[in-house]
Amino acid sequence: MKAQTESTTLGSSDPATRDLDLKSLANVHDPIPVYRWLRDHDPVHWSKSFNAWVVTRYADVLEIFEQPLKFSSDRFRKVDEKYASRRPAVQAVGEILGDWLVFRDPPDHTRLRSLLQKSFTPTQLENSRPRVQATVDALLDLVAVRGEMDFIRDVAFPLPATVIAVLLGAPTEDIELIKEWSDRLAAYLGGSVSGKDNFTEAREGVVRLVDYFRALLADRQRRAGGDLMSLMLQAEVDGERLSHDEVVSNCVLLLFAGHETTTNLLGNGLFHLLSNPDQAQLLIDNPALVGSAVEEFLRYDGPVPATTKIATEDIEWHGRTIRRGDMVLPFMSSANRDPRQFSEPDRLDVRRTPNRNVAFAYGIHFCLGAPLARLEGQVTFETLLRRLPGLTLQSATPRWKPMIFLRGLESLGLTWKRGGES
Ligand code: HEM
Repeated sequence: MKAQTESTTLGSSDPATRDLDLKSLANVHDPIPVYRWLRDHDPVHWSKSFNAWVVTRYADVLEIFEQPLKFSSDRFRKVDEKYASRRPAVQAVGEILGDWLVFRDPPDHTRLRSLLQKSFTPTQLENSRPRVQATVDALLDLVAVRGEMDFIRDVAFPLPATVIAVLLGAPTEDIELIKEWSDRLAAYLGGSVSGKDNFTEAREGVVRLVDYFRALLADRQRRAGGDLMSLMLQAEVDGERLSHDEVVSNCVLLLFAGHETTTNLLGNGLFHLLSNPDQAQLLIDNPALVGSAVEEFLRYDGPVPATTKIATEDIEWHGRTIRRGDMVLPFMSSANRDPRQFSEPDRLDVRRTPNRNVAFAYGIHFCLGAPLARLEGQVTFETLLRRLPGLTLQSATPRWKPMIFLRGLESLGLTWKRGGES
């Protein structure tokens, strides 16, 4: 049985004509009312526009992440005929992305994850802290005297892109090019609703990134360094190593996963913090709250609203029948606003504890880069509030990118008191 149909009528109080299409521009800008309605009335909802099941309650989203074999991540191999395509652009993207850790199931996932985890050690992370701090300071040095900036362009984009590119061993002067290719891939993975052909865009981006990292790999084979790519080439668990194709493919994954998401953590978090001046003041008065504040930004409006899984068997759930091969979309951003889990979920509370949000997913695919993203968030917010007093939003209604699976602002204009730096 198919659930509630989607209509283009906006703002209706009648559920039959309510706009439940999460791809409609109004809902991309503000999905919170639809999430609320779906959680209360249709928690496993058939979405015609996604051709997939939309799951919105916290407990149900967790259940999906807890059963990785029933809800497969292997969207390139397990997709049912109805999603498969013979188009060359689709196949080219699938060939590379199919090797990504995030799209593999056990036992392949277990093997890949333990090998990659060897390169993402606490020592590696601690070594990143001074670099993150120095990068934030250098970016703020460039703008501090101006008294205004576009936070996305001037800080939130270059910081994570620089950090991850340097971690991977790519020269900083290549960052702009890498960003351009990665943006094209984001059109597909982010679920762009801009009207362009997402697969063709993604293929262009992927092909360039793969060529780039292949060349870098050849260089690392000649001279290994302390970068992640060198560590991946050397990593060994139970006599197993990563193939060169796997190293290249997962470098593209780390690069992609490591920058756009963190950019959006910084942008979304700062926008909501400054829209809630009492919370901003709390954090200014007590910088030790920065850890719980970042966790709250992730919960309140996370960078990855949802992800894609494939049902590997028929499932009866909340009166619906999910068929084997159907796509199932756990909406973490809705789970993170579920009052069944969080008290006053629509209130931003930088002191919230406990805060078991699922912004980084949960279970075996829990984000490998979460410690790095948290570190970048904490250093950025602490430094911004310390160095730029009187931070104010230029507009209370900035524009959100027209994407579904990635959520972030096009730009974020800020002003502050010039010459007020301490
Ligand atoms: C705030 C920033 C970030 C958010 C919200 C985020 C979110 C996520 C989510 C939701 C997943 C699981 C996806 C799924 O199961 O389909 C994931 C996986 C992953 N993330 Fe992140 N991520 C962030 C930053 C990073 C960074 C900085 C890196 C790397 C440097 C990274 C690397 C990865 C990797 C490698 C996986 C795959 C893990 C696996 O499948 O075992 N992420 N991330």
